[in-house]
Amino acid sequence: MNRTVSFPELDYQQSCMDEIRQMAERPSTYHIVTYGCQMNAHDSEKLAGMLQAMGLTEAPVRDDADFVLFNTCCVRDNAERRALGNVTWLKEVRKKHPRLMIGVCGCMVQEPGMAEKIVKQYGFVDLAFGTAVMHRFPELFLRALREDHVVIETGGEDLVVEGMPACRLRREQAYISIMQGCNNFCSFCIVPYVRGRERSRRMDDILQEATALRDAGCQEIMLLGQNVNSYGKGLGEGDFPELLRRLDRVGIPRIRFMTSHPKDLSDELISVMGSAEHVLPQFHLPVQSGDDEILRRMNRHYDVARYLDRVQRLRSSVPGIGLTTDLIVGFPGEREEQFQHTLDLVDQVGYDSAFTFIYSPRTGTAAAAMPDQVPASVSSERIQRLIALQEKRQREEMLRFIGTEEEVLVEGLSRRSSDEVSGRGRHGVSVTFAGSEKDIGKIIPVQIDGVKQNTLSGVRKES
Ligand code: SAM
Ligand code: SF4
Ligand code: F3S
Repeated sequence: MNRTVSFPELDYQQSCMDEIRQMAERPSTYHIVTYGCQMNAHDSEKLAGMLQAMGLTEAPVRDDADFVLFNTCCVRDNAERRALGNVTWLKEVRKKHPRLMIGVCGCMVQEPGMAEKIVKQYGFVDLAFGTAVMHRFPELFLRALREDHVVIETGGEDLVVEGMPACRLRREQAYISIMQGCNNFCSFCIVPYVRGRERSRRMDDILQEATALRDAGCQEIMLLGQNVNSYGKGLGEGDFPELLRRLDRVGIPRIRFMTSHPKDLSDELISVMGSAEHVLPQFHLPVQSGDDEILRRMNRHYDVARYLDRVQRLRSSVPGIGLTTDLIVGFPGEREEQFQHTLDLVDQVGYDSAFTFIYSPRTGTAAAAMPDQVPASVSSERIQRLIALQEKRQREEMLRFIGTEEEVLVEGLSRRSSDEVSGRGRHGVSVTFAGSEKDIGKIIPVQIDGVKQNTLSGVRKES
């Protein structure tokens, strides 16, 4: 059973927030720079919620803020280098703004050895804390205000923390974290080391959050977890299909989720996808590689045949479903013919989009110690071929939408023209059409009549 704590009942954190709010000498504005995935984006909403509860307001421009917080990612080396580069740059900003406070948090800080590295190489940082202690941010922030050396905290038990204040980015779309951590230990991945063991939130807490969002006018929820298919393990309250069925009854118009692991994608979930009214016809199903031997060494616990079987069942249950994936090239020992198997799979499945990555060795993971690391020049050449094929397949797949109607949740003005708006259709694909600011946040039916790269275009249907 997971240990759940209630943030409003953490008296010490609450009194730290009160104390900070009343301090005469404290930062009055903040800016959070977020790297990484949706989990980090949602954590940043909670960090912003706590900062606002402590009396700070958001500075839209980073260099104007009194407190800058970097919420970091370490899933690949370039994510880590980008974050550290930006932290270093702020050292210069501080010359003009001597009272600037700098904080670093998120997955990178939780990496083994990183806290020591921060003290040694980034001594100008005021505060660094890992994902496991995010609920203690008020206490750590207060210490950083009082102490003149860097405050570092990374330890901590894997908890479920309920009731943290959140300052959500949008009213009509919201993230709901349904679980945290990961138990899968894919051999390339650092996430289990920096996000702790898998733990699910109680179903009633999730339903309560969804109901409050519905009442506040939310149109779409995105359920978050590293492997949502294993939601509920050890909880004894029901599994992910059951959670989806119950959320479907809440009545929020659109429900999405990510990420699903192919090994845990059950027939029952596939059947709920076909029957639940509000669960959108889209599925992110990372395959990583199209070669059985590589999949085995990645510790993914499925083979290509099982993956294709899941895809085929999803497509029969939800015709036209939008499928997306993640792919890694240059995993240790990947030979040309094995990479070719990945190309074959991409060609066969026909994804609406794919995130493609060059394998990046992460210290402490099993794959980092494997022999035959693939040279960068080989991986770069492979990823170019993979991207070219995916783009071609994507263009072909997009054609199935021509002449159909897509209900689009408008997210904003289009980047190309202020007379156009863009948003996502029910299948997850971007759609652009003539509109104005007053359409933002609404769900509008659009008749699709064209494809430009990976975006659909169309005309609003009169209702
Ligand atoms: N939990 C999800 C899953 O199982 O697919 C994804 C989590 S991870 C944050 C997102 C993607 O990053 C992975 O699907 C994988 O393709 C990629 N990734 C993770 N570790 C990587 C590494 N060391 N090098 C390159 N890509 C990596
Ligand atoms: Fe990483 Fe695998 Fe867990 Fe996804 S399922 S977070 S890829 S270890
Ligand atoms: Fe996400 Fe990066 Fe952490 S992808 S879970 S922010 S390592």
